[in-house]
Amino acid sequence: MLIPAPNPRFAPSSPDSIALITCTPDTVDAALGALPKSQASWARAQGFQGGVADCVVLPNAEGGLAAALIGLGDAKAQKRDRFLAAAAMRKLPSGVYQFADGLAGAALEEACLGWLLETYRFDRYAAQKPMAAQLVAPDGVDAERLEIIAAGEFLTRDLINTPASDMGPDNLEAAARGLANTHQAKIDVTTGDALLAANFPMIHAVGRAADRAPRLIDMRWGKAGPKLTLVGKGVCFDTGGLNIKPGASMGLMKKDMGGAAAVLGLAHMIMALGLPMQLRVLIPAVENSIGGNAFRPQDILTSRKGLTVEINNTDAEGRLVLADALALADEDAPDQIISMATLTGAARVAVGPDIAPFFTDDDGMANHIAAASRAVADPVWRMPFHDPYEAMIEPGVADLDNAPKGGFAGATTAALFLRRFVDTAPYTHFDIYGWQPTAAPARAKGGVGQGTRALLHALPDILGF
Ligand code: BES
Ligand code: MN
Ligand code: ZN
Repeated sequence: MLIPAPNPRFAPSSPDSIALITCTPDTVDAALGALPKSQASWARAQGFQGGVADCVVLPNAEGGLAAALIGLGDAKAQKRDRFLAAAAMRKLPSGVYQFADGLAGAALEEACLGWLLETYRFDRYAAQKPMAAQLVAPDGVDAERLEIIAAGEFLTRDLINTPASDMGPDNLEAAARGLANTHQAKIDVTTGDALLAANFPMIHAVGRAADRAPRLIDMRWGKAGPKLTLVGKGVCFDTGGLNIKPGASMGLMKKDMGGAAAVLGLAHMIMALGLPMQLRVLIPAVENSIGGNAFRPQDILTSRKGLTVEINNTDAEGRLVLADALALADEDAPDQIISMATLTGAARVAVGPDIAPFFTDDDGMANHIAAASRAVADPVWRMPFHDPYEAMIEPGVADLDNAPKGGFAGATTAALFLRRFVDTAPYTHFDIYGWQPTAAPARAKGGVGQGTRALLHALPDILGF
């Protein structure tokens, strides 16, 4: 089944829109001072101080809604979280609102995008109450761009939130085909035993024990301009394979296609914005299942690139399927290759669920991504491709070890493993979590895109257009 195209939209501007006044604890006195006395007293009586998620509606003489005040919190609170306007806007009563005051520039953009993202609901299996407040896009904000970004993010969230029962490799393919169709992109999919004939042996090995056949999805869009290839881990469910995960570790593994969901969301943004570039998206889509034909510990696989890999843990499957996809990406020498994957538990231990760690050898690339991350409130952090650890992924009996013993630097050794499959292009890898463990402003609990908005923002610098 296809995921319906999510369509977050600002409200059309209306003469009846309700003024939305933002305050911080520092500006609350000035803001209340500018109101009619009765309204200011009303806000004070409600205890409104401009703190995080403070929200007060102001009545007019007829008892209708004259305006609303929302708090953004002080500088310390704003350092502790992002999209704070959304935290208050979710409390507003039904109505069409319009920012009426001094919010400008990046803060205004963030407030508008925050509202769009806050409207997300995953309602495929049960109806959810929609957000009551609608927002008119203010002048000077690129409303269409923000709507496209939110739509890409919603696609990512829907793909991750859909359980593996409805999001197998076949469903992920259908979603990619739907997206390709929307944007007139070209798409080729290699499925099942055809993976062997087409030389994707590790994608086949990881996915062959599942009833739903493994596949490689290859989407291309754009006729001219610099070439970017995105590669996303599409493990639709990760049982761990024969090295089965304990229940607690398996509990969230429907999200193990979070990298694929993220690159599809980013691809939507790029294509809908019509960026002047050539995009390729590669997704190895598999289920890491258990069966008599499952790949085993100590099997040695020969990868597409020819490098041999000793399997020391069938739960280190992501790097195997990505390796064959990266080898293909590398064959046409694009200007950049970027992979996104829910690859290691070690990345979570290192930076927690809120930060997307990324690896690149290029300081300029790292700076572009870090600057964009700050500009669009999409936190990332650079981690090292530490060459001295290369020895840790060399088992002797084969070229590579998929699961080095010892557990040191697990995110780095996984990233180094992937880097072995890229020779011709600058390479960046994101080890994302793809999941918001508890609801936060503009991030509902559940699937979430990470690093995608930062990458979108950085693309002109990265690719030079
Ligand atoms: N999908 C997991 C990684 C993961 C686990 C991401 C939990 C986010 C949350 C991956 O396939 C995996 O199982 N990795 C192993 C690798 C190990 C066996 C070398 C890990 O990180 O424990
Ligand atoms: Mn695994
Ligand atoms: Zn996995």
